[in-house]
Amino acid sequence: MEVIFWWTIFPYLCGTILVVATFYRFIYQRKNWTAPSTEIFDRKWLRMGSVIFHYGIIFAFIGHIMGMLIPIQVYHAIGVDDHTYHIFAIAGGSLPGIMVVFGLIVILIRKYSLPRVRVHTTFGDYFTIVLLLVVSGIGLYMTLVYNLTVVAYEYRVSIGPWFRSLFTFNPVPQLMLGVPTLFKVHVILAFVLFASIPFTKLVHMFSFPVRYPTRAPQQYRARDGYNKNNR
Ligand code: HEM
Repeated sequence: MEVIFWWTIFPYLCGTILVVATFYRFIYQRKNWTAPSTEIFDRKWLRMGSVIFHYGIIFAFIGHIMGMLIPIQVYHAIGVDDHTYHIFAIAGGSLPGIMVVFGLIVILIRKYSLPRVRVHTTFGDYFTIVLLLVVSGIGLYMTLVYNLTVVAYEYRVSIGPWFRSLFTFNPVPQLMLGVPTLFKVHVILAFVLFASIPFTKLVHMFSFPVRYPTRAPQQYRARDGYNKNNR
């Protein structure tokens, strides 16, 4: 039962919450479909944390596509043996992983330690950042430490085909049976994060700022009276 729950029911439950709640929010709560910036209160730490995080997560995302969505047979067909693949996965995944974790730590410290930023930080923001930090921290540990000190675990014959089987609605939960616990925890927490997206500012990842370049400029005015300064 445990295998069926964690590797069939739970992922579909999280996926359903993600899709249904995201559509609901897009249709009925479009006004708060943004991630308002706190750049006006501090630019330096935001630039450092957010830019490093976003570049890291983009490359980590590409790494996951290569590891989870491209079958091992394709690599063999193009002459990439398993040893070479894992060397590239560890080398290519470590820097993005470090950037993601470092960026998140800077963002978290900034939100907590700068009073004017902290008052604009919600519980949802802390929940998202801490969960992202735990998921990414475990991910980085797997890529950098577990693979180099225990074994370069071959997730392309277990986690990868399982993940793809979810999208073909022909789930094979047995594939996750022999997966090391740490990898399982990473995947389960990642699905918790997916299900939380519609309830947090992470929805901004679905926004394509096509109208951004043509939008009207935002005006900021001093609270203590605009006119006084222009006399
Ligand atoms: C919010 C979602 C997720 C985040 C933020 C995340 C983050 C990370 C990070 C930062 C790493 C280390 C860098 C890297 O190798 O790319 C990593 C590794 C890994 N992640 Fe994720 N991950 C997520 C979801 C998933 C999911 C859904 C799966 C599988 C279905 C997965 C499987 C793996 C595996 C197998 C590794 C180890 C890669 C290796 O050893 O080369 N991750 N993850």
